[in-house]
Amino acid sequence: MGQFRVEKSGSTEVWTILGEQRRNAITRAMLAELEQLVHGISASGESRCVLLTGEGSKAFCAGADLKERATMDEAEIRLFLDQLQRTLRSIEKSDAVFIAAINGAAFGGGTELALACDLRIAAPEAELGLPEVKLAIIPGGGGTQRLSRLIGPGRAKDLILTGRKVSSTEALALGLIDRIAPAGRLIETCLEVGAAITANGPLAVSSAKHAIDEGLALPLDEALKLERRYYETTLKSEDRLEGLSAFAERRAPSYKGR
Ligand code: COA
Repeated sequence: MGQFRVEKSGSTEVWTILGEQRRNAITRAMLAELEQLVHGISASGESRCVLLTGEGSKAFCAGADLKERATMDEAEIRLFLDQLQRTLRSIEKSDAVFIAAINGAAFGGGTELALACDLRIAAPEAELGLPEVKLAIIPGGGGTQRLSRLIGPGRAKDLILTGRKVSSTEALALGLIDRIAPAGRLIETCLEVGAAITANGPLAVSSAKHAIDEGLALPLDEALKLERRYYETTLKSEDRLEGLSAFAERRAPSYKGR
């Protein structure tokens, strides 16, 4: 414990990596706590959106802790990678929506953490990159797979094979991030996006998230059937009827997530 600061704001939680001195690099302790936090939020269902950010103004997350890595043998590195893959996958599979609030440098595992989130919103000064090949390794937290799915194989190879850093402006143009927040307003902007998401039908939001993610790997005919299955979840819900009533009565809906 103590690797993250967790704060609640309505139905959104802000998880801040506490490791400014090491530029919020991913240690084994940090990763273990992140895995527990993701399990906790998925099990409780109380909070429906998470903002992931880093302490201080320099870094979102500088990737794997390279000082700790130097002390690890091959077997320990494999265990670390297994836990990293598992944790990032559980972020994607969660019903909660994860927003990476990229407050500074996001390199290596930091960019991979952001790639596993549903949305990526960056401060203007943020920089991103997958520089692993410079260290004679490759991205091990899904970077080769998620980046190529997100921005296409050519652009992913441009970034991964050179290991170069990109500014927030270039990252936005590439589709690596979704928005750049106004200067000094990163968390407020992400909280506004979180509030816009959590005001909506909870089953609708989680169904749409899973339909998009799971459908990407399928041929279109299969993907359309998948969309219909998720639509069924919302069709049977009380919230769908509440949405129609609220529209007719010209009031804000009060959704219950059922
Ligand atoms: N693992 C462990 N420690 C790290 C780290 C990492 N990935 N990244 C930075 N740190 C540490 C530095 O060693 C330094 O520690 P020290 O004060 O004990 O010397 C401290 O964080 C500050 O680093 P510094 O480089 O001086 O900060 P900066 O604000 O000028 O730059 C970064 C921040 C993130 C841009 C820069 O540190 C960097 O490029 N780090 C390496 C990132 C990387 O290659 N990650 C990929 C891993 S596969």
